Amino acid sequence: MKVLIACEYSGTVRDAFIKAGHDAMSCDLLPTDTAGPHYQGDVTDILNDGWDMLIAHPPCTYLSNAGARWLYAGKTLNIKRFEQGLDAKTFFLLLFNANIPRVAIENPIPSSVFELPKYSQTIQPYEFGHPFKKKTCLWLKNLPKLTPTSVISEQNRESTKIPGNWFNKGGKERQKERARTFQGIADAMATQWGCL
Ligand SMILES: C[S@@+](CC[C@H](N)C(=O)[O-])C[C@H]1O[C@@H](n2cnc3c(N)ncnc32)[C@H](O)[C@@H]1O
Repeated sequence: MKVLIACEYSGTVRDAFIKAGHDAMSCDLLPTDTAGPHYQGDVTDILNDGWDMLIAHPPCTYLSNAGARWLYAGKTLNIKRFEQGLDAKTFFLLLFNANIPRVAIENPIPSSVFELPKYSQTIQPYEFGHPFKKKTCLWLKNLPKLTPTSVISEQNRESTKIPGNWFNKGGKERQKERARTFQGIADAMATQWGCL
């Protein structure tokens, strides 16, 4: 299967699909962190290149519910921020409506202001073998919901407040480090969707 992983610099999902025997390529404005097939540039350049599946992790800074507090800072609508959110929505929808048979878009809970389509499911790293909480939505087209592979019990999950855990690591690169897809989720995508 020809799989495009859009907005991925880590190569995590790409390499999980390659390991499962697929022809996968990542794409990001940034170079890839891990050597492998990667297009560094705008995903719209290659979106119509005959892919069987698209998995995309578009930027969430201006769309997410967590970011909404900046939208109404001082109780008035921040117009610039709102316009940035609308641009992010346009990019999200461009990916979601791509002419590709199977599509999955991953993002945090979006702010209702932007009226994105309803997501198909939410997942957590602790359902896929990582002892962390990070609620993530999946918008799916022609793909089944992901089934948890290894659920970590509540008492064994780590709080994001612990210094030095994945949420707080990374110094200047913290934002980038936090955005990396968890390996267990990438493996579940490759196993459960790669067999279709
Ligand atoms: C939230 S990060 C996703 C990181 C991903 N989960 C990973 O493991 O690498 C969003 C990424 O989208 C990329 N991006 C933004 N606009 C893009 C575009 N037009 N084409 C390709 N990548 C884009 C950014 O450079 C950023 O790395």
